[in-house]
Amino acid sequence: RWAAATGPRRVLLASPRSFCAGVDRAIEIVERALVRFGPPVYVRKQIVHNAHVVRDLERRGAVFVDDLAEVPDLPGGAVTVFSAHGVSPAVREEAGRRGLRVVDATCPLVAKVHAEARRFAARGDLVVLIGHAGHEEVEGVLGEMPGAGVLAEDEAGVEALPASLAEGRGVACLTQTTLAADEAEEVAAAVRRRFPGAEGPRDDDICYATTNRQRAVRAVAAEAQLVLVVGSANSSNARRLTEVAARSGRDGTPLARLVDGPGDIALEWLRGARTVGLTASASTPASLVDAVVAALGGLGPLEVEEQRVTEENVEFTLPKEVRP
Ligand code: F3S
Repeated sequence: RWAAATGPRRVLLASPRSFCAGVDRAIEIVERALVRFGPPVYVRKQIVHNAHVVRDLERRGAVFVDDLAEVPDLPGGAVTVFSAHGVSPAVREEAGRRGLRVVDATCPLVAKVHAEARRFAARGDLVVLIGHAGHEEVEGVLGEMPGAGVLAEDEAGVEALPASLAEGRGVACLTQTTLAADEAEEVAAAVRRRFPGAEGPRDDDICYATTNRQRAVRAVAAEAQLVLVVGSANSSNARRLTEVAARSGRDGTPLARLVDGPGDIALEWLRGARTVGLTASASTPASLVDAVVAALGGLGPLEVEEQRVTEENVEFTLPKEVRP
């Protein structure tokens, strides 16, 4: 027990943390589809990038597939949910051809980036999308602008874009919704250097939930020796939160670790950590944060404090197929 000589350990809860409105809505869509249509409900890709959420919905009758080809042909069309990360028009068309009963859980803020992509592409621009290769959101957005969109992951990626790509056309810039704001701005600056006059990206391409969670983790990281980010390793916003935490310390940087749940915490991280910052990605259920607090409490006395940087009151309406 570490606390005997030094008093309770402090846990600083970053706020806002955990589910955003888009994740809340996506999970509710699958739950409602299960009730309204009955299982099985097929979900293309993980509904949100969190292992616990996926397992829980699987237990209730959701079937997660990587590709629409895995969805069987059922009379009347299998109920198929598109994940919060969005899909490319090609996937939508395939679902239409197959006669699937689609319920679209694409976050409205991802859909907004799709709309921007279409608008820039229709204008004839070269559109540089700043984001991470292979992420479902990136694949969906690039699918909106064949021949117009290119992906840049970092400054080197921007430098590597041939100048000829922009010959005779304007250049516009978009970002994935879950990037670290500071890094994305550096890449956007590189785009403007490479292609003077390039437009965008808009400040709100990176969504409110990403921005707020990053601000909140920065605030707790400044006071902590260890920051725990609860989230799954394939979650973009969880990984960015961990990186932002790692570079936000006041004297040097705190140790920042991404954990899927309490079982991933290594005791050695806690050595010398009098103040532990704690947050959770936008796809992580709040119950996992409670479980981490309980696990820390099992190791000795705790003083839990919440550090709120802003209030959130965003809510999205449900798609008509599952509306009450
Ligand atoms: Fe949507 Fe942002 Fe959440 S894009 S799904 S509100 S992280």
